[in-house]
Amino acid sequence: MSAVIIFLFFGIAVNFVVAANSHIYSGYSVHGVQLRHRLDQIVLYNLQTDLNVDLWGHGAPEIRDAFIMLSPENRMEVLDILDSNGMKHYLHIADVAKSLKKHEADLSSWHHGRQNLEPYETYARHAEINAYMERIAIQYPNIAKLVTIGESFEGRDVKYLKISTSNFANTSKPIYFMDATMHAREWITTPTTLYSIHRLVEDLREEDKDLLEDVDWIILPVVNPDGYEFSHTENRLWRGTRSVNETTNELTNTSCVGVDPNRNFDVNFNTLGVSSNPCSQIYPGHEPFSEVETRYVRDILLEHIDRIQIYMDIHSYGSYVLYGLDNATLPANAVHQHHVGAAMGANIDTAKLPNADFYAVGNSNLMLYGTSGAASDYAHVVGVPMSYTLELPDYEYGFDMPPQYIEQVNMETWKGIAITGRLAALYYNARVRS
Ligand SMILES: *[C@@H]1O[C@H](CO)[C@@H](O)[C@H](O)[C@H]1NC(C)=O
Ligand SMILES: *[C@@H]1O[C@H](CO)[C@@H](O)[C@H](O)[C@H]1NC(C)=O
Ligand SMILES: *[C@@H]1O[C@H](CO)[C@@H](O)[C@H](O)[C@H]1NC(C)=O
Ligand SMILES: *[C@@H]1O[C@H](CO)[C@@H](O)[C@H](O)[C@H]1NC(C)=O
Repeated sequence: MSAVIIFLFFGIAVNFVVAANSHIYSGYSVHGVQLRHRLDQIVLYNLQTDLNVDLWGHGAPEIRDAFIMLSPENRMEVLDILDSNGMKHYLHIADVAKSLKKHEADLSSWHHGRQNLEPYETYARHAEINAYMERIAIQYPNIAKLVTIGESFEGRDVKYLKISTSNFANTSKPIYFMDATMHAREWITTPTTLYSIHRLVEDLREEDKDLLEDVDWIILPVVNPDGYEFSHTENRLWRGTRSVNETTNELTNTSCVGVDPNRNFDVNFNTLGVSSNPCSQIYPGHEPFSEVETRYVRDILLEHIDRIQIYMDIHSYGSYVLYGLDNATLPANAVHQHHVGAAMGANIDTAKLPNADFYAVGNSNLMLYGTSGAASDYAHVVGVPMSYTLELPDYEYGFDMPPQYIEQVNMETWKGIAITGRLAALYYNARVRS
């Protein structure tokens, strides 16, 4: 035991191993698609459900292009459909396998000569992320408590930190609940949560003291550890969980694995933006909360529902702050949610890279498209006043953003988290809880 603690206190050397089989994407390409209006978005969503097109970036009409990944099998047919709808498109990545190889080289060189990378400075493995949270809890016992909520489908410990000056006993404070990596391949999302832990606990600055004094924090850096590890070791572009259901496979004569966790929550389940094909990236599962990982998010929400003022579900990519509902019905407090979401987007914009997109803020359905079973909708419907899906930037790299951008994304996203933390306290104390 003492050996373990010594190891923890002397820092966690993040150990990088790459083996992500990039060759499985040999011949795959990514195309930008210009969107003129909502009908163009609908064409893309139908391609997603009908031809299994992998939608990388949603795009928004006249704001930014969508990005789709095509396989050698579906490419001709999909491009023909775009052409026949008069939709302009262009080649963005000619060979996905090659760009993933480049990504692996980027990661190796990032680690080369950097012995003491912290888990928020790289794309750390799940065990390293858990070890970081353990170290924080051991070193700062008065502020940070580590909770193991249970095991993932494949048996990994799902852990989160509770950060509070009063061990969550002062109920006059709001709770801010953030989570990340619900979708496995969205690697940039986890560093922003770890960096938030770092800024609240290890590097609390004078100007941020109110955030620790006035707000309690729940930070769950990896919702979907099985998918995340699979995206490190087997398939960089894996999105869903890794659960196996033999009955479904027999019934559908498939051997597919996993469901889309962000379609698996119990809100308008299996109605919009889903596919009944268990092999699809947007298969919602056979029933709400079929996935143990989404049940954990549900359980955290319900345990603290009286005090969670903001739920921030962090995804990538596209630079959006989105609120519900996903079926285009605006919540009663939509004006407040918009106000807080816009403050987040604008604050991030003040620190963005010159060439990066400005954040776009709005209702998820009206901005992007209809979905169902999403975590942020579920949180709002069960009583979290302000519930968002945050889509981080990608700087046109897609999911395989080089690690030298992590620091920038952490820093700018923290600005958005800080302002929304302050607004959470303000709204909570004014009893704006509808
Ligand atoms: C509870 O938190 C609020 C907000 O930070 C603070 O004003 C109050 O003094 C705290 N109460 C106790 C008993 O510490
Ligand atoms: C697998 O899916 C079927 C429906 O296809 C469902 O009835 C069954 O309960 C599921 N099994 C498990 C273990 O979740
Ligand atoms: C099931 O799939 C296999 C291989 O894909 C195929 O050979 C077989 O005919 C299918 N069976 C049914 C009942 O569709
Ligand atoms: C949208 O979803 C909410 C929550 O389930 C529901 O109350 C509302 O009636 C739905 N709106 C439409 C247009 O279906």
